[in-house]
Amino acid sequence: MKIVLLGYMGSGKSTIGKKLADKIYHKFTDLDTYIENKEDKTIPEIFNEKGEIYFRKAEHKYLQEFLSENDSFVLSLGGGTPCYAGNMDIIINQNGVISFYLQASIPTLKDRLINNSSKRPLLASLSEEKVIEYIAKHLFERSVFYEKATHRITVNSKEIEAIVAEIRILLH
Ligand code: S3P
Repeated sequence: MKIVLLGYMGSGKSTIGKKLADKIYHKFTDLDTYIENKEDKTIPEIFNEKGEIYFRKAEHKYLQEFLSENDSFVLSLGGGTPCYAGNMDIIINQNGVISFYLQASIPTLKDRLINNSSKRPLLASLSEEKVIEYIAKHLFERSVFYEKATHRITVNSKEIEAIVAEIRILLH
């Protein structure tokens, strides 16, 4: 199976992806980690040293590379991956891919991201108030891409196990 998880930063893509992959005996890949390994730099280093446009081009290149080299996986994307360079269309049109949009509310995302923004260059310099405004605007722009996923799963206060179970039911 080819399973892709997508959604905003903090929606739980990596945590859920790892759990799901374990349960169904598939290899798990986090696209951010894949990019970090290939570039031999962390995501914040890539943003700081090379800028966001470089990152978006690299993200596009490595997404295509990963999809062409693997035929059974659980892949978690970065929050912005579906929204640039035609990436969401590539995913939708890739033979056999089932994609899941992990949808979280703005308050849920704010609570998860506020204490954890240093790893996320797009949020690193924002105050709490600005983070809420930023997420709201960003989600509004990005939802049209996220909504192209095969399935949408609401996450918010659900347990990880429950989300994984929900995904597994949709895979049958
Ligand atoms: C980004 C999300 C990050 C990472 C980069 C940009 C975004 O991934 O790809 O910092 O544009 O939303 P996570 O969603 O895994 O934090």
